Amino acid sequence: MSNDSTKKTITVALGVCLVCSILVSTAAVSLKSIQDRNKELDKLKNILSAGDLYHDGVDINAVYAERIQPELIDLETGLIIPETDFTKKLNPAKFDIKAMAKDPEFSKEIPSELDKGDIGRMPTKMAIYKVMDGNDVSRYILPMYGKGLWSTMYGFMALHTDITTIMGFTFYEHGETPGLGGEVDNPRWKRLWIGKQAFDMDGNIQITVVKGIVDPMSEEADYQVDGLSGSTLTTRGVDNLVKFWLGDTGYGTWFSRIKEQQITQSNLLEGGDL
Ligand SMILES: Cc1cc2nc3c(=O)[nH]c(=O)nc-3n(C[C@H](O)[C@H](O)[C@H](O)COP(=O)(O)O)c2cc1C
Repeated sequence: MSNDSTKKTITVALGVCLVCSILVSTAAVSLKSIQDRNKELDKLKNILSAGDLYHDGVDINAVYAERIQPELIDLETGLIIPETDFTKKLNPAKFDIKAMAKDPEFSKEIPSELDKGDIGRMPTKMAIYKVMDGNDVSRYILPMYGKGLWSTMYGFMALHTDITTIMGFTFYEHGETPGLGGEVDNPRWKRLWIGKQAFDMDGNIQITVVKGIVDPMSEEADYQVDGLSGSTLTTRGVDNLVKFWLGDTGYGTWFSRIKEQQITQSNLLEGGDL
């Protein structure tokens, strides 16, 4: 067959396509488990980062195992789901927020008037992460997600056990523009959240990501975080998703349970002292 023949050209082209597709699919299949492992490790890293437990060189798995206790909660009742009810899917150690939000058995549609984060559906059960100091919980790390400008942004907020003081905030997945909305990853901006108050004394959500810079002399400064410059739409998305998850449709019922428990415990302790 001559090198210039149409048949030979097509045969060679098809052969090259076949070899390339086999190489690409083999690489995709063989690297999938490594990719999944790295994704999981990155999630753990962000849980630690929100909980102020991450720094370069830290053994992520070891610190996670030592300091983090995941727990599964029912967002509608605020109750903790006991281990005896865990299944392959319904398991805080393997909780996949995206899969759960799509699963008709474990998710619900959010009425549009309540859907501040613009997410459409949400899981009815959620894995949360307790940061342990010995036997005591020092912080709760709560998954949160919602729409930015270009993407759904997934992150974690760390809340003090007073259920008001924000101890950290980080996104582990988003598709906002680097240098603009992508500045949600800027460590300087993330640090601005630490110490801010999510709720006022009456329990109303007050935390707000403002457009521009917070006036440190303002009475509202404890409830405000600087917006990202040139990124009003991502900023608004962050503000909305935080308000959604701190509110009644998000973790509100669980917050009430925790506060009730804290009151009961302190009453018991006071009673014990008498
Ligand atoms: C290519 C491109 C990418 C952009 N990416 C973002 C982004 O990730 N987040 C965002 O809020 N605005 C982004 N913007 C800007 C928005 O379109 C809009 O102008 C901006 O949010 C307004 O913010 P400002 O009022 O602070 O200027 C982008 C604009 C362009 C042209």
